[in-house]
Amino acid sequence: MNGRDLVRSVKAVGSAGAAQGLRTVQAAWRRRRADATGLPQRGAERARVPGPVRGVEPGPGGGVVRFTRSELRIVVTVNGAVFWGWDGAGPEPSYALAGRCPEPDPRAVLEPDKDGGWRVVSERATVVVSRHGAIEVQTPGGVVLRRDLPPRWWEPVAGGAARWLQRSEVAADARFFGLGGRAAGPRLRDGTYRLWNTDPGHTFAPGDDPLYITMPVQMIVSDAAAHLVFHDTSWDGTVQLREGEEGAGSGHDRAGTSELRMDGGPLRCWVMVGTPARVLHAWVSLTGAPALPPAWALGHHHARWGFGSEEEVRRIVAGYQERGLPLDAVHLDIDHYDAHQVFTVDRVHFPKLPVLAEELRRDGIRLVSIVDPAVKAEPGNAVYDSGMVEDAFVRDAGGRLVRGAVWPGESVYPDFTHARVRQWWGRFYEERLAQGFSGFWHDMNEPTSFTAFGENTLPRSARHSLEGRGGDHREAHNVYALCMARAGYEGLSELTPQERPFLFSRSGWAGLQRYGGTWSGDVATGWPGLRASLSLVLGLGLCGVPYSGPDVGGFDGSPSPELYLRWFQLGAYLPLFRTHASLRAGRREPWEFGDDILEHARVALVERRRLLPYFMTLAHLARRTGAPYVRPLWWGAPEDRALRDCEDAFLLGDCLLVAPVLDPGADRRAVQLPRGRWYDTVTEKAYEGPAQVLVEAPLGRIPVLARAGAVVPVRGDDGGLELEVWAPARGRVGGGLVVPDGGDGWDEPELERYVARWQGQRVVVRRDGDDGPSVPSYPVRVRGLGTP
Ligand code: GLC
Repeated sequence: MNGRDLVRSVKAVGSAGAAQGLRTVQAAWRRRRADATGLPQRGAERARVPGPVRGVEPGPGGGVVRFTRSELRIVVTVNGAVFWGWDGAGPEPSYALAGRCPEPDPRAVLEPDKDGGWRVVSERATVVVSRHGAIEVQTPGGVVLRRDLPPRWWEPVAGGAARWLQRSEVAADARFFGLGGRAAGPRLRDGTYRLWNTDPGHTFAPGDDPLYITMPVQMIVSDAAAHLVFHDTSWDGTVQLREGEEGAGSGHDRAGTSELRMDGGPLRCWVMVGTPARVLHAWVSLTGAPALPPAWALGHHHARWGFGSEEEVRRIVAGYQERGLPLDAVHLDIDHYDAHQVFTVDRVHFPKLPVLAEELRRDGIRLVSIVDPAVKAEPGNAVYDSGMVEDAFVRDAGGRLVRGAVWPGESVYPDFTHARVRQWWGRFYEERLAQGFSGFWHDMNEPTSFTAFGENTLPRSARHSLEGRGGDHREAHNVYALCMARAGYEGLSELTPQERPFLFSRSGWAGLQRYGGTWSGDVATGWPGLRASLSLVLGLGLCGVPYSGPDVGGFDGSPSPELYLRWFQLGAYLPLFRTHASLRAGRREPWEFGDDILEHARVALVERRRLLPYFMTLAHLARRTGAPYVRPLWWGAPEDRALRDCEDAFLLGDCLLVAPVLDPGADRRAVQLPRGRWYDTVTEKAYEGPAQVLVEAPLGRIPVLARAGAVVPVRGDDGGLELEVWAPARGRVGGGLVVPDGGDGWDEPELERYVARWQGQRVVVRRDGDDGPSVPSYPVRVRGLGTP
């Protein structure tokens, strides 16, 4: 136990009582003991590299290149993605893939290259393998996007998982993004990033890494193209990134580098090349379309740890209603459980939850329940008893139950890597539905165990099914929450097949979007936390998880009224718009910060509600194309270097550019504009990009700019859909997409395309269709006409 650990255990004792403090010490000792005996000793290792090439065996979409000490399988698949795996690794089995691996592209063939190397030429990328096993990915035009040097393995002489290292080089101008949810992004600066899902155990700010969701997914953007690279292994590892440097025309560029070191797992990867939109499309065609949230989940959510009673929930809801503030969901945290036990209710303080839920639902407000994976290890607890009968819980190498310490005290953990356990767990959502809940908030699923020292998770030696293949926590840890999300999603799909399951999860891995979204976790209250909030949402979107958002106001302490408001204003433009705070934190209701703040928050809430059809359209587009709602400014122009380095603004779909205020005391801010005309949506003042412009940002609003020509579906005063159209620049044509969604269910609404063009002195909007253009069936309002 070092000094920091000691502080942790003292804190744990102080905050949760002596008994819980003692449990954290016991949990830590048990974890240490389990690993002392249950993990294979590393011992002596043998290093290996592929060696020289020996021959090839062409196959569908590519083939196998044999080296003296390894072999490399390359497959280009029909979605344009490139797969390669060393030592016989194929794409399956994989927790990331949505289903079966896509079919090989028959047009891609293995052919000899110069100097004894080989190459596979395909429509979107060319893969060149050198005779010592270096792999280059090139654009169809022959520009090198990445060069992976021959890998190295270290194999334990006594057998067991081999460690490996993959060094790669990228263009000198390239920027790195992704790796899951990172607080100090979205552009990932030089440094080492760990791949191990982690509850930091305290509120986090940009310096904290890793956090709850890590993924070996990198989006790399350079002048020549964007590409996504995914190393499909769930083991613990690190990525060391170093951006390149250009020699200012001297010809002495220094390449950017990435060094991936993994503790085990197959060395296999996927690469997708193209525009950011194409890359994300290929990525979700591989790992799964993002789940479609019901409309209410795109509204405003209010949460808090410690509402404590039905009366308090009613008081909060009445507070919103009396002030005419839109509210769509209320979240109940662990304090509504009976003694913090999952799938129970504290019947003293929440005696008639289904009645409360029904009343709220009549007012258009849904209840969302927290769901923690850890089950109190106590006979008499129904989930524990049934889990014991099912043999559902994680055991150690000696067959004993692995016990950790979480909110309910000593707890056991379902092994979600087993299909039978997922089904068992999924059935418990019936209890939640009966209580009236409509949505689910998965928490503490890194998984977390409060330990007084050492890592705050399960022992690495803990055994998991891994779909029957068998393995330990070193391999299962990072996919634990992903499998829990699958259990919840599939359970809900069976229980209420007519509804879209809505869940979001603190931890996760590549493919999480198939089941739901995520949120920031315990972001620290403070201006750096506000910045981290945006970084997380942007980075996760580039990894294929488009639905997320922060705890508005920050998790701990009390934000200043200004900070609260600026956070609220940002949150209003993020997919998950939720206020939340800790038991020990100050209030987060919009009326708790004075009348001015309340009025400004009202503006943000009303605007969010007005934009609901646009958010719904973005949700459909995310599902159909993988494009996140929240996109970096370079999304449509990755070659624009000024945009590539801009981290304090974002595009919301194709139509809007949002420039949140991230610093105190600001009443204006600089905004880096992409090419074209942009209108301030409040003043209608027009700006021409590309340029950096100074835009008004009074306390009452953050700058939101509309792209000239944009057609934005909004909610009219009567609740119906309307088209808000921003005048195209003279001589130009605009347009937009609308997906009119029923709010829930599985109907596939048709995608409507609108075109806006000048006709004399008027801007006319028409719907594009197979039978030619038609007049839109919604009211149209054209804005921005004041600008010539
Ligand atoms: C974790 C969650 C937080 C929640 C708390 C109590 O800290 O991140 O959102 O309020 O647990 O359940």
